[in-house]
Amino acid sequence: MSTDGSLIEQLRGLEEEALAAVETAESGEALEEVRVAFLGRREGRVSGILRKLGQLPPEERPRLGAEANRVKARLGEALEARESALTREDRTEAHSEDLTLPGRERWIGGRHPVTQVVDELVGIFRDLGFSLARGPEAETEWYNFEALNTPLDHPAADEQDTLYLKGGNLLRSHTSPVQVRVMESHEPPIRILAPGMVYRRDSYDATHTPAFAQLEGLAVDEGITFVDLKATLAEFARRYWGAGTRVRFRPSFFPFTEPSAEVDVKRVFQDEAGIQRETDWIEIMGAGMVDPAVLEASGLDAERYTGFAFGMGPGRIGMLKYGVPDLRLFFENDVRFLQQFARS
Ligand code: PHE
Repeated sequence: MSTDGSLIEQLRGLEEEALAAVETAESGEALEEVRVAFLGRREGRVSGILRKLGQLPPEERPRLGAEANRVKARLGEALEARESALTREDRTEAHSEDLTLPGRERWIGGRHPVTQVVDELVGIFRDLGFSLARGPEAETEWYNFEALNTPLDHPAADEQDTLYLKGGNLLRSHTSPVQVRVMESHEPPIRILAPGMVYRRDSYDATHTPAFAQLEGLAVDEGITFVDLKATLAEFARRYWGAGTRVRFRPSFFPFTEPSAEVDVKRVFQDEAGIQRETDWIEIMGAGMVDPAVLEASGLDAERYTGFAFGMGPGRIGMLKYGVPDLRLFFENDVRFLQQFARS
């Protein structure tokens, strides 16, 4: 039996052994050890076999040489493949997310508390037959004052002094201009609500801010009287604050209504112990019968139509409802405050 057969067998045995060692190597260093042990020039076991080449008869040497090259190449590939697999594992371990960590909670926005109040108020008046109307925040003096029976040199115009824009327009000081715009463009019957931001040269304190939300209402038709105004606002107050709520009208003055009133509410309710309680009278809005001059300025026949109007500040109503002591809290955008009103 020729020795070359046994050398080739030894070579194949080495190949198996080396491939197994490559597969089980768990680190770069372990792989390098395998490489040196099998392919190292001096000590490597494949080289060891090649060194015996000289013992073979010359015609058999090429076969062993070729086989040795095949084994070297195969081992080289296996080493390389294992090496890149190991680095990949390495990278995954070092940089991947920790899948056992709890997820990040999603931020869920909420409606601003004043917006929530506006939506509730609008919902109640919608049930009473009012629809929504909107108008521009930048207004003309005509719509903000003159059409509302407020000459520019009247003290009432001073009270609602506001910011003027280039070109003579101004930031509306109430949403009443929307009422004029609606009367101009619609024939009665009219029943609208005008919510929106309004602006005044006001102080910035616990109950005043120079920009605030307002909600005004207007009803115009034939035969509307003060009784309709009282009944509508009393019904609104009972729906918003509870069935026992009482409403009081105090004579007042607005240029655009005649007669005019301040409207107060008193909540009468049972506490948790079942004892009847009542609050003080709290002023919630201004109201009155639309001045005939306003109807005429808006293009309506004041002999034929009458109407009532009212206006309130949803921010103040929110203060009452939620027991918020300072109106400014609604505008400072402190999430710790606003979060308390988030409803998911
Ligand atoms: N426009 C008035 C204001 O802003 C509120 C109001 C509206 C009063 C309608 C009476 C009738 O102060």
